[in-house]
Amino acid sequence: MSREITRTTAPPARRRRTALLAACSLLATGAGAVAVMQTPAAAAALACNVDYQVSDWGSGFTTTVTIKNTGTAAIDGWTLTYDYAGNQKLSGGWGGVWSQSGKTVSVKNADWNKTLAAGATAAPGGQFTYSGTNAKPVSFAVNGVACNGGTTPTDPPTTPPPTTPPPTTPPPTGSKVDNPFQGAKLYVNPEWKAKAEAEPGGSRISDTSTSVWLDRIAAIEGVGTGMGLRDHLDEALKQANGEPLAINFVVYNLPGRDCAALASNGELKADELPRYKSEFIDPIAAALADPKYASLRITTVIEIDSLPNLVTNISSRPTGTPQCDVMKQNGNYVKGVGYALAKLGPIGNVYNYIDAGHHGWLGWDDNFGPSADLFAEAAKAEGSKLEYVTGFITNTANYGILKEPFYTINDSVNGTSVRQSKWVDWNRYVDELSYAQGFRQRLVQAGFASNIGMLIDTSRNGWGGTARPTGPGAQTSVDTYVNGGRLDRRIHLGNWCNQAGAGLGERPKAAPEAGIDAYLWVKPPGESDGASKEIPNDEGKGFDRMCDPTYTGNARNGNSMSGSLGDAPISGHWFSAQFQELMKNAHPAL
Ligand code: GLC
Repeated sequence: MSREITRTTAPPARRRRTALLAACSLLATGAGAVAVMQTPAAAAALACNVDYQVSDWGSGFTTTVTIKNTGTAAIDGWTLTYDYAGNQKLSGGWGGVWSQSGKTVSVKNADWNKTLAAGATAAPGGQFTYSGTNAKPVSFAVNGVACNGGTTPTDPPTTPPPTTPPPTTPPPTGSKVDNPFQGAKLYVNPEWKAKAEAEPGGSRISDTSTSVWLDRIAAIEGVGTGMGLRDHLDEALKQANGEPLAINFVVYNLPGRDCAALASNGELKADELPRYKSEFIDPIAAALADPKYASLRITTVIEIDSLPNLVTNISSRPTGTPQCDVMKQNGNYVKGVGYALAKLGPIGNVYNYIDAGHHGWLGWDDNFGPSADLFAEAAKAEGSKLEYVTGFITNTANYGILKEPFYTINDSVNGTSVRQSKWVDWNRYVDELSYAQGFRQRLVQAGFASNIGMLIDTSRNGWGGTARPTGPGAQTSVDTYVNGGRLDRRIHLGNWCNQAGAGLGERPKAAPEAGIDAYLWVKPPGESDGASKEIPNDEGKGFDRMCDPTYTGNARNGNSMSGSLGDAPISGHWFSAQFQELMKNAHPAL
């Protein structure tokens, strides 16, 4: 949980296009050449050339192979063959029937593109995994005839070849929509739904979309008898029922996770970056890239509790921890985030949102700009590019109010700015919406695309119920004014664990405000932030006193009471009493 204090135009195509005009002929006999016997009879009738394009993400790629009939007669039924030199392995294809035998790949026409008139093209696409080198095939044949049309490229190099997708299996799209939530249904996690429905009154909200947390390696296959990543994707296809649907995954398993706190420490040690890559990100990327799921809009929240800690919780700050120093020095947060983006960003239907803390963490000048710049550095690490980032998310698993209606950062009382109140304490922002919109602009300055969008986790920032103020506070002092009027009822802005008095916030909604792609329920309501006392467990979770209601605090929360609920289970486990209180204090009310 993030906690510690102190588009209107389509985005650029994300696919790298590398053109290869197939110079295929009998002369090409090196490794990977197709052995073609050119029979005089067939050669007379059939002439072709092939344009081969790849979009490669290091462990896999998609290819579009455009076949052009350069002869004078129509081709009625075609089979394309070519060889790879490496270990490229077919995982699926479209626009034809794809198969592979050893190094040889064959694509037979689909019914709808069986006939290729003179001058016409067909453009089947395939998806492959590989390791090592991904050399392009050196020759191609159609119906056993080498494609050596040898004329001009099938298309000008920058224009994608015209493709007619087959009706049932559309290829991954080459360019992403600006806001994946717009016009899309939102995935309902059946496991959370069942837990909510088992609670009295829970069926009022059980059809709400909540995010799926990939919070350990075992979550990919499913923890115990639970659903794994592909189970969720299969279920998402069912729920989509042919219409656009967005499903959000929290990617949350960095080495040395949660360096400034204890409740959500994870399974990987500070130096286990290689395991993070090969056992966590690679299999996630492989599943998400499966063409079977190409019609889904898959969104990700990349690694909460990480990058901001390298700005705010290193030893040069009063709130620093030795663990955050280690993560800054070994670079494994930056590299891990970069690697995740580099693997997920090139997938045509995956949209990455990086965690951007919340206003009660990064809203101070010392934290704001340096965090944005660090995010840009991470988004260029390990082969990633800024364009692999669709946007950012704020308030994940936190309690920051969406909008404070009864005071603004520009107010003052008797000539004293609200920034000098104890609650605001020189912060530049008083709520998540203004913070998210302000931070968006700073991120664009840091180099991110001008059409990035923000998400806000509104699962638990409703602050409704009987304690909710109905008007501004008394103008006796900035403190009476702010404390009397603020909707966020926490004891201190730095409190983050199982907050007493909190309620469900805005229901998930696309494009609710300028610059905001969606409000989402990322932290599933009812799942604990951390145990209120020491509970042994095998998940790597520690006991953080910020989850203990008797704790009197530290420098990060102004030495205040923690404000947390008692009798809480370890983080991520079901906490019925909290679920009930969140429903009771929901705003908008249920
Ligand atoms: C906490 C836990 C994590 C859980 C998540 C969602 O961050 O550490 O295991 O998945 O909350 O409830």
